[in-house]
Amino acid sequence: MRKLLITGGAGFIGSNFVHYLRRHHPDYGVVVLDKLTYAGNLDNLKDLAEGPHYQFVRGDIADAALVDEVIARHQINVIVNFAAETHVDRSILDPGAFIRTDVEGTYTLLEATRKWKLERMVQVSTDEVYGTVPEGHATEEDKLAPRSPYSASKASGDLLALAYHTTYGTPVLLTRGANTIGPCQYPEKVVPLFVTNALEDQPLPIYGEGKAVRDYIHVDDHCAGIATVLHQGEPGRAYNIGAGNEVNTVQLATAILDLLGKPHSLISFVADRPGHDMRYALDTTRLRALGWEPRYSFAEALAHTVAWYRENEWWWRKLKSGEFREYYRKQYARPLAEGG
Ligand code: NAD
Ligand code: TYD
Repeated sequence: MRKLLITGGAGFIGSNFVHYLRRHHPDYGVVVLDKLTYAGNLDNLKDLAEGPHYQFVRGDIADAALVDEVIARHQINVIVNFAAETHVDRSILDPGAFIRTDVEGTYTLLEATRKWKLERMVQVSTDEVYGTVPEGHATEEDKLAPRSPYSASKASGDLLALAYHTTYGTPVLLTRGANTIGPCQYPEKVVPLFVTNALEDQPLPIYGEGKAVRDYIHVDDHCAGIATVLHQGEPGRAYNIGAGNEVNTVQLATAILDLLGKPHSLISFVADRPGHDMRYALDTTRLRALGWEPRYSFAEALAHTVAWYRENEWWWRKLKSGEFREYYRKQYARPLAEGG
């Protein structure tokens, strides 16, 4: 049996990937290792019963002794690393945790992959490592030019992974995904934040003039891309995963409000994010050559996501308290008072 260690598997994309594997590769054994930070949520995995095909371990990917112990005990042969601090705005407020997890944590998993001679490690990375892309599309060979503490920490992980492949022949592959949407995304990223704020008749804070462009991809398409790289990718290579949906923040907010039948007056322009990347866009030729293509249009991906949040208030309402409220106050109270 293939035994996969899915790190960060209690977060948004990681938990969707665990479910993707259950559906498409039910013979695989999966062990989730997750620290359960504010973004980790056992509700995302609650329908899975522990047994030979699924186990959960709480812990830190930067804890080498624990990683060794989990690999040995469960006879792991593949790691897929989703564990990361992931939110640009939090990285601007407090970068330390990003260096520890996204750099030191990645290093720890690379060392374990080398030491235990694992078959493969997939390092899940982001299109943000290319920095802002004023025109055209970033290819995997483009220079990395990260501009936020988050993207710099992810780019550091990418460079370490590539160096491990070059130096030690470690069989590591990279995926660089676009902005992902779908069920179970913590409501700090723009889509779940705007959808849940709209459902609560709260303002949708748009940074600057709302002209920053992102490529929004459905999480199932992202997971299918990661699985394609896991099974067919060439070690030492990076693979872009994007859907080619270029949407700016005003278009996004308007589409969400229209889907929910809420007034556009909920839009509130606030001060811009420092160092805001104005456009991400990916060339996905390399992954498409392996047979992958996205299945959701932007309209379908957004409609599915909005419907999920509307139908699953039990999931997000409890998250928008405690820690979230404190973060929201720090991040938005002043800009909303000044800009709104
Ligand atoms: P998320 O914030 O929803 O989840 C991250 C998970 O990692 C959480 O469960 C958290 O508890 C866990 N974690 C954090 N630090 C840890 C540590 N030190 N040890 C063990 N577990 C730890 O993130 P996500 O959106 O699911 O992103 C997953 C991966 O995909 C990340 O590497 C991210 O950089 C990448 N990515 C995300 C997007 C996106 O739009 N969300 C796009 C491209 C790439
Ligand atoms: P985000 O979801 O934070 O992802 P990224 O890592 O790509 O920045 O933000 C997506 C876009 O939405 C980005 O251009 C910033 C913008 N945005 C807002 O305008 N207001 C917000 O409150 C948030 C969270 C994001």
